Amino acid sequence: MNKLKYHIAVIGCQMNISDAERISGILEDLGLESSKSKENAKVIIAITCGIRKRAEDKIYGLIPKIKKHKPETIIILTGCLSRRKDVFRRLNKHVDIWMHTSDMENLAQEIHKKIPNLKKENNPNIKSLKNYLSLKPKYSSAYSAFVPIGSGCNNWCTYCVVPKARGKEVYRDPEEIINEIKDLVSKNYKEITLIAQNVDSYNHISPNGKKTNFAELFKLVDNINGYFWLRFSTSHPKDISEELINALKNGSTKICPHIHLPVQSGDDNLLKAMNRHYTSKKYLNLIKNIRVNLDSELPVAITTDVIVGYPNETREQFNNSAALLKKAQFDMAYISQYSPRPGTASYHLKDNITQEEKKQREVELTKIIQKSCEKNNIKYIGKTLDAIVIGEKNGNILAKTKTSKNIKIKQNKILKTGEFVKIKITQAKNLGLYGKIIDK
Ligand code: SAH
Ligand code: SF4
Ligand code: F3S
Repeated sequence: MNKLKYHIAVIGCQMNISDAERISGILEDLGLESSKSKENAKVIIAITCGIRKRAEDKIYGLIPKIKKHKPETIIILTGCLSRRKDVFRRLNKHVDIWMHTSDMENLAQEIHKKIPNLKKENNPNIKSLKNYLSLKPKYSSAYSAFVPIGSGCNNWCTYCVVPKARGKEVYRDPEEIINEIKDLVSKNYKEITLIAQNVDSYNHISPNGKKTNFAELFKLVDNINGYFWLRFSTSHPKDISEELINALKNGSTKICPHIHLPVQSGDDNLLKAMNRHYTSKKYLNLIKNIRVNLDSELPVAITTDVIVGYPNETREQFNNSAALLKKAQFDMAYISQYSPRPGTASYHLKDNITQEEKKQREVELTKIIQKSCEKNNIKYIGKTLDAIVIGEKNGNILAKTKTSKNIKIKQNKILKTGEFVKIKITQAKNLGLYGKIIDK
């Protein structure tokens, strides 16, 4: 008998990609089969994002269209818009199951109500799980895995939906995390990224009172036998500890020297208005400390996020962001135009920077970033480094450095994704590196 098919549409960040893998685990357990296309899927799961209006709008385009085309499709809406009342009112007539991320343990049961003749799930303990992150995932890659160490955020930055959308911080048991990674390593996974909204605020207290912070968890992961690349994301500048910097400095060769450290603004008054709990000086000192401790033959890569056009952001305040970017010499930055989000503290402030001005500010910062990227990338020319093959594009092999820089290789070699290679860098541009394989 042909299996019923499901399709997952993921919008948003790495947390949603990771959630998709756990949801796939539940659905396959029910005997459903994954489908790349929406057309032949009986069940479609939309994992939503509300970080900016543009991400939210994607769902309004997608969901009504599916139901119009194939009314018998069962649509499940989950992710960061699943608790928004206005989204519920707008989409409820098209959605069959509303499932908040923290209730994911109930997903199998809810699907059974809609498709009663499905197989009973194999996992009878599903109800006793502490949270959905303990569910067994079906990983989407055979060599690289996101391992969630927790979910939620307690920081309430004034512009951000995440604390409301994902709820309070919840962290996984270190033993469970270690076991998941050991299992991945035994299956030959080469790249492990520990993820959470704020990895550095990880703290877990076991039933016997044993406390574990992020630096301690990181050391436990670093000590796992076998060779793999180890990354983590995202870090909040207020939470990076000396203990973590030391763990990175004194740890093994698994550790990838790349830190994503969102700054959001270079102006102290705006940072205060955003509720970020650091000043531009403190941020610059932190990255100086990171570089002093972690630079080796090549500098540690530091990337960031910046918001332009926050309510009342003056030209002078924007110039402070531009100045910080010049001083920090980032390896990459995601620059976002401020987008007012329902349910956030800044939603009540007038969104008074015009669209044109936001665009102009974004362009200005992009130019600064391109310059620092290029300057940093030039330091790679002539170096021979380890890389991991991540794919192929237009006949070129694509690989990635430990510092998360992409390398294009114009060579006719058959290489598998996930394979480690040694590459000599021959050329550098602002968006990436070029090189040749010197050893396979
Ligand atoms: N936890 C991370 C960020 C997660 S959200 C941190 O604290 O830094 C990812 C990025 O989206 C943020 O860093 C921010 O730059 C951007 N962002 C969040 N809310 C936004 C909004 N309302 N408008 C524009 N960009 C936003
Ligand atoms: Fe959002 Fe701030 Fe939490 Fe990051 S720390 S997820 S920007 S509220
Ligand atoms: Fe979006 Fe939620 Fe991530 S709002 S960016 S999917 S945590």
